[in-house]
Amino acid sequence: MDGLRIGFADGEVVRGVSFDLRAGEVLALVGESGAGKSLTARALLGMLPRRAEVAGRVLLRGRPVTPADLGRRLAWIPQDAMSALSPVHRVEDQLAFAVRAVARVGRGDALAVARRALAGVGLAPDAAAAFPHALSGGMRQRAVIAMALVNNPDLVVADEPTTALDPERQERVLALLRERCAVAGAALLLVSHDLAAVRRHADRVAVTYAGRIVELGPAELVLGRPVAPYTRGLLASLPAAGLSADALPGDGLSADGLPTAGRGEGLPGDGPPGDELPGDRTSEGGTSGGGLPGDRTSEGGTSGGGLPWDGTSGGGLPRRPRLPVLAGAPPAPGAAGAGCAFAPRCPHAGDVCRRTEPAPRAVEGRSVACHDPFGEAA
Ligand SMILES: Nc1ncnc2c1ncn2[C@@H]1O[C@H](COP(=O)(O)OP(=O)(O)OP(=O)(O)O)[C@@H](O)[C@H]1O
Ligand code: SF4
Ligand SMILES: [Mg+2]
Repeated sequence: MDGLRIGFADGEVVRGVSFDLRAGEVLALVGESGAGKSLTARALLGMLPRRAEVAGRVLLRGRPVTPADLGRRLAWIPQDAMSALSPVHRVEDQLAFAVRAVARVGRGDALAVARRALAGVGLAPDAAAAFPHALSGGMRQRAVIAMALVNNPDLVVADEPTTALDPERQERVLALLRERCAVAGAALLLVSHDLAAVRRHADRVAVTYAGRIVELGPAELVLGRPVAPYTRGLLASLPAAGLSADALPGDGLSADGLPTAGRGEGLPGDGPPGDELPGDRTSEGGTSGGGLPGDRTSEGGTSGGGLPWDGTSGGGLPRRPRLPVLAGAPPAPGAAGAGCAFAPRCPHAGDVCRRTEPAPRAVEGRSVACHDPFGEAA
């Protein structure tokens, strides 16, 4: 992706996003609500709203993507598996349709391919032959993973693919998704609010803020030793998840200053992927309450004291775990001025920050868009 810009009537909301993705790699997009993650993900697939004004290029193996690539070279895994599955067809038939949409094969052969793909994600023949509503949320999301990969795409884009599941199943499904993509040699772009899961599953992480990438690099560096003030603030507000590591006392961004736990210890669902849990067929709407400490809801992208995530919403999908809310709020769409969009919230902001948008540059093994990442000038 090269120089992606997306605007609506209110102004530009994605403001020059560039990254590359290698075969078999997992790149996670993280950042607060409204940062432009979903639009960026959709732009890869050519699935943007019609009224969006778009600039920039998306090249797949050196050539521009076209609508015909969707379902062949590009695959999409949505948040809600039901939106990817037809309720009136058996799961295996839906995969067979997908196979026949891109290859000249007979129905029997397509069904055989479909069944192999479903077996590959751990769905037994009776589950493969079921209608989607007869399956649990976890099993449906496995079926969607099988569907996404059945035509051996080059790139899989997954926008919060496990949010509808409880934390333990989230972990299993994410591990499965990563494993299936690796087996297929497909790159995976993963949009997630779950930084602990990102740390476990992503090779690289792109931290987005107000429509730009502020830090991009290997997951262990970006989440273990963050450099950009925004990333540092984000991680410093997650102390008990063990992600803040070299947290930044006195950085002015952490909400509460709780003690920091050991990095990577005691995270829920750390185990390897496995079969569905007993009772998974009735798992719709998880209630585990296992969100990251410090997670808050912030629907609509406003900051302030949201409710702790309780895993249920009463309205179908469980509430998704949200990134913790930092002091202040991101700029409204189109309101980012000439300087760094994070300046009003940044303890290191200096005059240059308010005047000039920082360009990305190499800092300690990753790319960082910040004039003064170590706060030396402030
Ligand atoms: N169809 C649209 N029309 C106008 N504005 C839009 C549209 N879709 C998204 N936006 C705006 O673009 C910005 C980025 O939206 P996007 O959905 O990409 O955010 P996000 O990072 O995925 O957030 P979240 O974490 O809440 O999913 C938001 O300010 C949003 O309001
Ligand atoms: S450019 Fe300036 S305001 Fe922006 S994050 Fe860096 S130090 Fe803070
Ligand atoms: Mg989104």
